[in-house]
Amino acid sequence: MFTSRFALTLSLLLTLPLLLFFFFPAIYPHKNLPGRDELDDLALFRRASAARSPSRAFPLSRGAASSSARSFPAKFARLGSRTSRPKIAFLFLTNSDLYFSPLWEEFFSGHSRFYNIYIHADPSSKFAPPDGVFRNRLIPSKKTERASPTLIAAARRLLADAILDDPANFYFALVSQHCVPLHSFRYMYNALFGNSISAFNAYIDPGKYKSYIEILSDEPNLYERYTARGEDVMLPEVAFEQFRVGSQFFMLAKRHASLVLEDRKLWRKFRLPCLNKECCYPEEHYFPTLLSMSDPKGCSHYTLTRVNWTGSFDGHPHLYQPEEISPELVHELRQSESNYSYFFARKFSPECLEPLMKIADNVLFKD
Ligand SMILES: *[C@@H]1O[C@H](CO)[C@@H](O)[C@H](O)[C@H]1NC(C)=O
Ligand SMILES: *[C@@H]1O[C@H](CO)[C@@H](O)[C@H](O)[C@H]1NC(C)=O
Repeated sequence: MFTSRFALTLSLLLTLPLLLFFFFPAIYPHKNLPGRDELDDLALFRRASAARSPSRAFPLSRGAASSSARSFPAKFARLGSRTSRPKIAFLFLTNSDLYFSPLWEEFFSGHSRFYNIYIHADPSSKFAPPDGVFRNRLIPSKKTERASPTLIAAARRLLADAILDDPANFYFALVSQHCVPLHSFRYMYNALFGNSISAFNAYIDPGKYKSYIEILSDEPNLYERYTARGEDVMLPEVAFEQFRVGSQFFMLAKRHASLVLEDRKLWRKFRLPCLNKECCYPEEHYFPTLLSMSDPKGCSHYTLTRVNWTGSFDGHPHLYQPEEISPELVHELRQSESNYSYFFARKFSPECLEPLMKIADNVLFKD
């Protein structure tokens, strides 16, 4: 009798902390909970994740979708009157004026049904919202800084706003104020979707469309970058073998944009501040690592944004000057080793606007 009562008491004593742990996790100090200023981001990402996907918004059953291949043109013509063609969302991530807005204006001209624009501009920076197609396209923005996870957070905010804003947004192209387009809008759209008729396929078979994001594992400083937040900090979520690097500028397909917004696991690690600021480029690692871990086959592994690292300085690539701008340079910058020509290039100094405008019609947007 005594022993069984003792056993009961003992087991109660043992289970009590466990119960407390499971039912009142708040009383245990958790490392790394989102800060107050991140809670509104979380709410935004939740809303974006819950937003109806275009395939569900699309009035087609699965069976109808697969049998539709043959009777495709008629069916698509009918659908076309009902829903919009898939669009490209251009996400401008900037901490200064959009120097090349007149060039982009020309790029977008005549294609208003095929794109949307979203701007994230550091509120502490000097930013004058341009008119025309950029009017009222500024999303609620927060401060961004190099060598910090704020650029990841800003890109995630842009993705979430774009997903919520228009269910037709299908591709999400991240660009900066120093990026310029190297081809016409029509050229890019057709390269991604075939043409504006076959573009409807994107609703029926979204899995066939790749994301264009650089994913590399052979950067010389990769280990220093992996341990920039401290030794073993990324474990167990991200082993060094899973850690990737790539250009910050990508073109994500919608399913991958949603995946990024649903991610909590990797973000909890990547948003930790760097101890080693010399090797701190979180935005060049978070997206390539996450996508390479979740859907490597769905990604191109290369970027569509050309950048010239020859003679780079302090992590900045070559900054093109006005006297370098020529039709020959544009042709050279377009050349890529993949079967896609580069769509965009960076970085260009603001003074390049004038010489670029001069060759806009005859060179840049000729195709
Ligand atoms: C890349 O930048 C270097 C200078 O840093 C320049 O000499 C070279 O012409 C540039 N390459 C291209 C393709 O523009
Ligand atoms: C490029 O190659 C991939 C497969 O390697 C293919 O799916 C895609 O259609 C090609 N794109 C172009 C523009 O030829």
